[in-house]
Amino acid sequence: MLPKKIQSALNKQISEEAYASNYYLSMASWCDREGLRGSAGFLYLHADQEKAHMMKLFHYVNEAGGHAIAPQIKEPPQEYKSVSNVFELTLKHEQTVTRLINELVELCLEEKDYSTFNFLQWYVAEQHEEERLFKSILDLIRIAGLEGRGLFLVDKEVGNIAGSLKKA
Ligand code: FEO
Repeated sequence: MLPKKIQSALNKQISEEAYASNYYLSMASWCDREGLRGSAGFLYLHADQEKAHMMKLFHYVNEAGGHAIAPQIKEPPQEYKSVSNVFELTLKHEQTVTRLINELVELCLEEKDYSTFNFLQWYVAEQHEEERLFKSILDLIRIAGLEGRGLFLVDKEVGNIAGSLKKA
């Protein structure tokens, strides 16, 4: 049976993943409006992935005998300063999610819930990959710059990353 404390912490994480999905959807829409099709495609895909993270937690809670709560989602920002601002915010957000996942893992150890501890290892690995991915996009922006053809090249390359993630 899922300990009550763990159930409530997992429901909080469900809400965080739902917010992340909405946040990236808003960024995707902003990029789409600005004509940044590659970045928009990448962020639409990422919004879907966050929804999948949410659903994985959701099903786990119910399968473990708990009650998953469909979250209320607060509205994310809708305007961004630039594409570099968008990707700086994604990295910052992923770092926050990593901290939350680590806190959840610590709570599982305190509560001796080894089953949820084991389940969360997938999220630990996923956060490592996501931070790496967003750092690599910021590196790309730093190297190519956003002046002249830089913005075009960055957007094209981010679109290619989305294409390779879809195939994976
Ligand atoms: Fe679900 Fe991007 O962390």
